[in-house]
Amino acid sequence: MKILLIEDEPEGVARLKEELTDVPVEFLIAEDADTALEILTQGPFDLAVCDLKIPESRLVPQPHTAHGLRAFDNIRARFPGVPVIIYSGFGSSAFGELGDRLSAAPQHDLFGEGATDHVIHRSKGDPEKLIDEIREFAAQLSRLDEIEITPGPSREYLTYYDRRLLRIYARQQQCSLVHVERLAGGRSGAVTVKLACESIDGPAGGAIVAKLNTYDEVQGERQRYKRYIGGLGATTFTPLMETLVAGAGDRAALFYALAQGFDTSLFDLLAQSDVDAATVVANLFEAVSAWREGAKSRAVELALIRRALLSDERVHDLPESSKALFDNVSNHQHVNVRWGTSHGDLHGGNVLVKDREIPVLIDYGRLGEMTASLDPITLELSAILHPDSPVDLNGWPNPDQAERWDDLDFYLDKCPTPAFVGACRTWTDAVARAPREMDATVLAYALRQLRFHEDIDPALPTALARGAVRRLQES
Ligand SMILES: Nc1ncnc2c1ncn2[C@@H]1O[C@H](COP(=O)(O)OP(=O)(O)OP(=O)(O)O)[C@@H](O)[C@H]1O
Ligand SMILES: [Mg+2]
Repeated sequence: MKILLIEDEPEGVARLKEELTDVPVEFLIAEDADTALEILTQGPFDLAVCDLKIPESRLVPQPHTAHGLRAFDNIRARFPGVPVIIYSGFGSSAFGELGDRLSAAPQHDLFGEGATDHVIHRSKGDPEKLIDEIREFAAQLSRLDEIEITPGPSREYLTYYDRRLLRIYARQQQCSLVHVERLAGGRSGAVTVKLACESIDGPAGGAIVAKLNTYDEVQGERQRYKRYIGGLGATTFTPLMETLVAGAGDRAALFYALAQGFDTSLFDLLAQSDVDAATVVANLFEAVSAWREGAKSRAVELALIRRALLSDERVHDLPESSKALFDNVSNHQHVNVRWGTSHGDLHGGNVLVKDREIPVLIDYGRLGEMTASLDPITLELSAILHPDSPVDLNGWPNPDQAERWDDLDFYLDKCPTPAFVGACRTWTDAVARAPREMDATVLAYALRQLRFHEDIDPALPTALARGAVRRLQES
């Protein structure tokens, strides 16, 4: 167990170390606020014990509670999932401010043994209490480590803290064994695994999908799920069963019910049968009708549409030739749109299919408010622009066709999946307010896919974007 100990009195440090010689603890010691901040850059730990009255730096040795509070605030900001024990003397002038921080801190079930306060205050007048608490913490961690994860080689792709999260989940289910199997995906930076937990009585609970990611990404996906999924019918999404955002350093996890029987992705189905894929698209259109009906007419800046898919920072990182596509179009021009809830990353791998016709949406990391045509346009274009698309396009579309995406007859010439493209286009036409919304959305998606220029041929997204820009200028 790794503990960040912020304490300027050497006797205090020595005493703690002495009392805890029989506990497997590694201390990272900071005697002042600047050193603590430096340690924070080196990565996460299991617990922070934070004195408040500490010096600002090695060079400015005068202690003050303001410096301890600064260290504390930085720990909370950088590693919100790490529990903190504030360990300070009585009579501190910082207690007013500290009280606010303590009451704002959440409760978490750190190690699957029940919820506790995430940030607590312990008095320096009672060091035994702190020592007992650290011992209890270490004991819980070692009970957690007894939970076995199989197969053993899963260590290669799961970090130490990822395995911790799976163990916390298993412990909540009173299980001692977790079987894991890695799933595809991962372009978002998440590691996704299928889980089956087992207790001494045998398999426990249903099969689960765990999505392991950074704290911020997990909180973002949880909030998006809570805010936007509710309006859809229960069979259109997979229920979120649990979220763990504490107790595992800088990692966190979402646990979804496994979509039973949804054994193919829409991408895979499209590679097998254009007509079946088109049926799934039509069914999906019906399944998300609540989102469509909630959409509102608006005029928004072109840049806002693009930003929903690609941040300004990411645009900055694009090759110069891609950035040049923008030269002839004003980011500030207004586009008439229908604006409403969208999945936001509806590529063919994020739709799973049962019985070759029933769809379910997965992957809620980009849900939000965008142009209503974003989802069908993403779905259609993902077959040609997503690096995971298994569809054999045989040279279709050529760059001329991509540039004239709006001319459907010309575009579909020699298309191997005309029914699928047609079904997506029917959806797009039904939801977009006007053609400029479609052009702005095609432009944004094509630019986003240019991020993958090492995995896909940039000629197609470039041609799609060029055509969209031309239409935006001319219309
Ligand atoms: N609830 C579920 N039931 C069954 N399989 C699932 C479920 N959730 C995810 N999967 C599988 O795990 C894969 C990865 O999940 P997900 O798409 O959420 O992760 P991701 O890393 O965000 O993917 P992407 O590459 O799209 O960004 C999916 O493509 C799918 O095969
Ligand atoms: Mg996905």
